[in-house]
Amino acid sequence: MELPLEYFIKLRNLIYERTGISYEENKIYYIKKRLQQRMQAGEFTRIEDYIKHLRLFDPKGIEFQELMNLLTVNETYFFREFSQLQVFAEACLEETTHAKWKADARTIKIFCAGCSTGEEPYTLGIILKEMLDNFPAWNVLIKAVDIDKNVLRVAQRGVYDQRSIKDVPPSYLKSYFSVTAAGQYAIDDSIKDMVIYEHLNLMDRRALRCEENYDFVFCRNVLIYFDDVSRKQVVDKFYGILRQGGFIFLGHAESLSRISTAFRIRRLNEHIVYQR
Ligand SMILES: C[S@@+](CC[C@H](N)C(=O)[O-])C[C@H]1O[C@@H](n2cnc3c(N)ncnc32)[C@H](O)[C@@H]1O
Repeated sequence: MELPLEYFIKLRNLIYERTGISYEENKIYYIKKRLQQRMQAGEFTRIEDYIKHLRLFDPKGIEFQELMNLLTVNETYFFREFSQLQVFAEACLEETTHAKWKADARTIKIFCAGCSTGEEPYTLGIILKEMLDNFPAWNVLIKAVDIDKNVLRVAQRGVYDQRSIKDVPPSYLKSYFSVTAAGQYAIDDSIKDMVIYEHLNLMDRRALRCEENYDFVFCRNVLIYFDDVSRKQVVDKFYGILRQGGFIFLGHAESLSRISTAFRIRRLNEHIVYQR
């Protein structure tokens, strides 16, 4: 199948409008391969008909969702970017819980955007369990969202292969995972129960409207696929859902400097962190 540039651009614009994900022209083969799969599944022979279908005859976005399930890049693993997590655990979380405890506040809320197959929110759960003094006294909520429905199914199941758990410290592996009959690693229910998953497109106008008072937002390795305009829209929403003094963590290749001046910049243990 050929994917003429004209149709690539039409499809790329549609994806960008709806998701914020921005594809350069060098991604034409990546898109073509996945488009082909969806066209075969729907028995479309002409690209123009498929694009028309997405635009006009898919009001609930069912086919668009199937296409996005194939297109999103879901790479993730437990304890990814370890040194950043150390800053979160040893500086930001410590500071937050200390202040909350003194103020008799006992809730910790974390928003994990672009959570993929769940390794990141479960990592945060393990860190909270390890770091919070008097853990049972705290009310912990980790809300984890993704645009891709397939990854959310994997996240909810919470069973992983060797590649996902390669950076889990051995003592945590022992405490928080059990080995299944198939030799995979199942996350413990005590961690699973901290996380609520939701299917959500960060670019959706209504997304995050009802969210508020988060202590931390994690959005790591998601905005790299967006352009600056959509990055700004999403980061402004994150600002809105954080409480005063709440922190936002982006991936190491991502910086807020071009996107938002609203956050306070702090340097903690050689890491830049952003705080509302
Ligand atoms: C590379 S993974 C990052 C996973 C994890 N945050 C990490 O750092 O390991 C990026 C995830 O962002 C999700 N994503 C991309 N665009 C999104 C959008 N508009 N709304 C919600 N999730 C999105 C993708 O489906 C994918 O699972």
